[in-house]
Amino acid sequence: MASVDFENGFISILLLGLISTFSLFFLFFKKPKNVFDLPPSPPSLPIIGHLHLLFSVSIHKSFQKISSKYGPFLHLRIFNVPIILVSSASVAHEIFKNHDKNVSSHGAIGIDECLVFGTSGFIKAPYGDYWKFMKKLVIANMLGLQALERSRAVREVEMDRFYRNLLDKAMKKESVEIGEEAMRLVTCILGKMSMGRSFSRESDEAKVTKLSLEFASLTQKIFLGQLLRKPLEKLGISPFKREIMNVSYRFDELLEKMIVKCEEEEEEHQGCEIMDAFLAAYRDEDAECNITRNHIKALLAELYFGAGDTSSKTAQWVMAEIINHPKILEKLREEIDSVVGKTRLIQETDLPKLPYLQAVIKESLRLHPPGALLPREFEQECKIGGFYIPKGTPLVINAYAVMRDVDSWQDPDEFKPERFLEKEEVGREKILNFLPFGAGRRSCPGSNLAYILVGTAIGVMLQCFDWQIQGDKVNMEEATGRAFLALAHPLHCTPLPRILNPLPSDL
Ligand code: HEM
Repeated sequence: MASVDFENGFISILLLGLISTFSLFFLFFKKPKNVFDLPPSPPSLPIIGHLHLLFSVSIHKSFQKISSKYGPFLHLRIFNVPIILVSSASVAHEIFKNHDKNVSSHGAIGIDECLVFGTSGFIKAPYGDYWKFMKKLVIANMLGLQALERSRAVREVEMDRFYRNLLDKAMKKESVEIGEEAMRLVTCILGKMSMGRSFSRESDEAKVTKLSLEFASLTQKIFLGQLLRKPLEKLGISPFKREIMNVSYRFDELLEKMIVKCEEEEEEHQGCEIMDAFLAAYRDEDAECNITRNHIKALLAELYFGAGDTSSKTAQWVMAEIINHPKILEKLREEIDSVVGKTRLIQETDLPKLPYLQAVIKESLRLHPPGALLPREFEQECKIGGFYIPKGTPLVINAYAVMRDVDSWQDPDEFKPERFLEKEEVGREKILNFLPFGAGRRSCPGSNLAYILVGTAIGVMLQCFDWQIQGDKVNMEEATGRAFLALAHPLHCTPLPRILNPLPSDL
């Protein structure tokens, strides 16, 4: 799920250090077997392999540059760590159609005991009994369509608060940072969906948001630690461990307190299915799968971190594109006004009747997928397109490159939501040139919730407010060194009430 960017200075320092430390060490590495059958590989340098090709801007763009020059199916090497890089819909299709089970692991773990991406977590859990048990629990009690229908009222309350908070800012003529407001909204919704009334909007939301963002800012280091774990482990070095574990311990402590509160207030979170299911499985010694407290905390941390940053970044990109395309804004307003009107607040049940809004969100996800790179691992050796892939080889699918591939998309770099309204575009997920939520068994289980959260939040912002920015256009430059694809300059804008009287909600 992580898109990881390298900052040039940081990489250079790391590189110099590593070259000197490893020069001798790497002389002893064996050449991989079957080297001649591996997918094509660009020219590499001794010792560092292809690391020097990853220096420019951000890693998904560096990978995109490499694949546009050398092809969509490549074999790269960072020191002695091999990587299979895929950058086209056709190769992605071949992998997910014929080898999905074989690539149903998110790859190596950076730090075992870390709450996010560690051994107790869900995201890095190997495809097996534990992962299947937790996925079943999460879908049945939180993220499946029926569970989402049962928890709709929780989101309506929070969406109403989101609107009233923006209205308050608008009355005071205060500017807001869209990503920040969206992150708070998503954290509150997830908190209420996972812990019911035990989750305090006042005291828990800010702490959870802060720690999720701290994790997000460390993801490139987690990724690097993961990549270099094997060679460095032999030297007894665990890169960035202290910094990463500092955040992990604080998140663990907070979640432990929140779970204890849930246990003490069982009645308060009654009806909050996922926590009931977690606690029942935790207490049941005969459960299908024994889950520990660490499993619960790690899954909650990964849900807050994974859902919050991705959904809020998406909301920010969508608003930025809309502000930069006034005609699209006008069309969206017409659609919302005709379906919802101006006398009540937009609800998530309106979304199926708003195809243009959905198309705008999809087009934004195509151009700005928060998870630009999909890291996986080949569990077994296999052959793809006639090439040999050794067991245990990391796989990176560059979703960013696939979704801007000229062979799959007309005018791939242009923002044209209409393409998602055309008939032939239906079923894009099936041909795998649209994968903002990944693909196969390990694809994002939160995609339905994500479309609801982003759709309703954008709907509220467009239905009720005009948006003023400094200057004529939003600067669409991408940030470097971030977990998920983000704007380099966070989107600050001032809401102006579009509808004079505050809208009554249906609550
Ligand atoms: C716009 C918002 C979101 C985007 C773009 C996004 C994207 C992704 C991507 C790309 C992956 C990796 C998929 C793969 O390897 O094929 C993923 C995994 C995951 N996402 Fe999301 N996500 C979003 C929102 C959410 C939400 C709202 C939740 C839950 C509340 C969620 C929970 C997860 C989980 C638990 C995984 C790990 C799945 C596994 O390992 O089996 N995500 N997401």
